[in-house]
Amino acid sequence: MTIKNIMVIGAGQMGSGIAQVFAQSGFDVKLNDLSEEALQEGLASMEKILSRNVEKGRMTEGEKTATLDNITTSTSLDDASDRDLVIEAVVENMDVKTQVFQKLDEVTPEHAILATNTSSLPITDIAAVTKRPDQVIGMHFMNPVPVMKLVEVIRAIQTSDETYQTIEETAKALGKMPVEVNDYPGFVSNRVLMPMINEAIYTVYEGVAEPEAVDEVMKLGMNHPMGPLTLADFIGLDTCLYIMEVLYEGFGDSKYRPCPLLKKYVSAGWLGKKSGRGFYVYE
Ligand SMILES: NC(=O)c1ccc[n+]([C@@H]2O[C@H](COP(=O)([O-])OP(=O)(O)OC[C@H]3O[C@@H](n4cnc5c(N)ncnc54)[C@H](O)[C@@H]3O)[C@@H](O)[C@H]2O)c1
Repeated sequence: MTIKNIMVIGAGQMGSGIAQVFAQSGFDVKLNDLSEEALQEGLASMEKILSRNVEKGRMTEGEKTATLDNITTSTSLDDASDRDLVIEAVVENMDVKTQVFQKLDEVTPEHAILATNTSSLPITDIAAVTKRPDQVIGMHFMNPVPVMKLVEVIRAIQTSDETYQTIEETAKALGKMPVEVNDYPGFVSNRVLMPMINEAIYTVYEGVAEPEAVDEVMKLGMNHPMGPLTLADFIGLDTCLYIMEVLYEGFGDSKYRPCPLLKKYVSAGWLGKKSGRGFYVYE
């Protein structure tokens, strides 16, 4: 199957980025959110990114207009009734996602694929609440979506080969690099990244080094573009803690225990860049 038209559910940071890259590649995109205000904010952030691309000569004014013309907005999931693919990017909450998938299963055409951008919830459980579990899959885009090449394509145990192949081709049509993984806690991206961040926090907790020193070691010695503690501050320390808890509970293995210092920072409201303080202080 060739995907021509899509719908993105959730116009937040990720949803608006996903809608933008599809629209830029010529897909007909509906962007859905509960609130009109969130939709307008999503469109405004897209407009800002596209205008910067025009200023820097990465895109023409005509391409910017064509991209925005490919997007219409919606506040009703019923508008998914003519879509080939729906990508859900609502809040990271299983109850909310389950409700969205059940409704999408009712209203979308029989052939439609239902994808989720979840960074930590089990795709297999999401697929199981629908009557088309073989057409459910994870499409894990990275932040910021227009910049990052990877799409981690996660197969639930029920996902069919046909569904996987369609999604792989679709990701390539966006100019992204799809990588196939199976559905286990943290998939590959967060299972490898988060324990590294957690271990970096342990080195601070145990007094091995100051945050600046930990980040310098990883930047200069391992060629990482940014240190793990800076990255943790950017991701949000609450999100890092949440994902460590998913790994810890999902595998029941003590190697994933979240560092007590991470828990303490989150309790204090030191969530990183978004709260003005994490391992570093932000103006
Ligand atoms: N932020 C990241 O770096 C990142 C990276 C990869 C994946 N993700 C995943 O992407 C998803 C979205 O994350 P985000 O950072 O964009 O969140 P966000 O809070 O910026 O946006 C979520 C949007 O969903 C909307 N929403 C909530 N319930 C809805 C519903 N029932 N129907 C329609 N819209 C609804 C909200 O109004 C909001 O605009 C989450 O599952 C998250 O785990 C996030």
